[in-house]
Amino acid sequence: MSYTLNTGAKIPAIGLGTFLSTPEEVYGAVKEALATGYRHIDTAYFYDNEEAIGRAVKDSGIPRSEIFITTKLWSTQHQNPQKALDDALKALNTDYIDLYLIHWPVAFDTTNGNDKFIPKRADGSWAIDPSVDFVDTYAKLQELDPSKVKAIGVSNFSITNLERLLSAPSTKVTPAANQVEIHPLLPQEELIKYCKAKNIQIEAYCPLGSANSPLLDNPVLAKLGEKYGVPPATIMISWALWREYVVLPKSVNPQRIKSNFEVVKLSDEDGETINNISKTEGIKRIVDPPFGVKVYDDNTAY
Ligand code: A2P
Repeated sequence: MSYTLNTGAKIPAIGLGTFLSTPEEVYGAVKEALATGYRHIDTAYFYDNEEAIGRAVKDSGIPRSEIFITTKLWSTQHQNPQKALDDALKALNTDYIDLYLIHWPVAFDTTNGNDKFIPKRADGSWAIDPSVDFVDTYAKLQELDPSKVKAIGVSNFSITNLERLLSAPSTKVTPAANQVEIHPLLPQEELIKYCKAKNIQIEAYCPLGSANSPLLDNPVLAKLGEKYGVPPATIMISWALWREYVVLPKSVNPQRIKSNFEVVKLSDEDGETINNISKTEGIKRIVDPPFGVKVYDDNTAY
């Protein structure tokens, strides 16, 4: 199953998430996923595993043209997207990226160079550079060679930030995607509705609630799992497809990589039941980095 991006390109609905997968783990995970039938791998400069993913893709023997690869420009790279792209192509050992996302709407001050990924101020706080505007970063993404970047987009963008991006005079290309945290405890109804209206493909990261997820023991999901004869994780992945967005379950375990690819068709009633879990159990956001500036629109923001 796949969706069509606003560029006209197809994006497979299920992709392998790789955040927190070490290079050693991810090599096997990507090979396993490709052998299972996945044709979509999601990574980022920050995940520090692009090189191993590139090797696994090559060693799989599957033509590059059949695999959709997403990577992301990290917050130390806003100042120079051209170099960031060159580095990503080299690390992934590929001629092009299918989808290149701005990872966060926040840039770091890279002048002190005290950390490759998260530069810190003297007091230990994260050294962001408020003078760098993601609108300008995105304008630079638009200028990248289209034969090397098939589609551009964003990640962790709120409606407020998307509105500012879309209304900027320099924005000529609507982002192809917005990759955000979505799971039954963070259903993101407003953001999904907004992106659908703008023809921006939503992609769900942490769709299972990340490591040690309370959702795996959730009684509502367990009951639905029994009904459909599948694990609760499969119910959550199937819910994403029922809601019609891309879903990126992360796993490095061969059995779980396989089972995460076997989805079921949920009834509308069961989909609605999952929509309502957070209404009784409360909203829970997992990924909320201490940038020290407001990134999200909702109350779970830092
Ligand atoms: P592992 O990599 O050992 O499989 P998310 O996609 O929400 O970030 O969740 C990823 C977490 O959930 C990882 O800790 C992953 O561990 C675990 N996980 C992935 N698939 C399953 C599954 N089918 N059942 C239980 N846990 C899973």
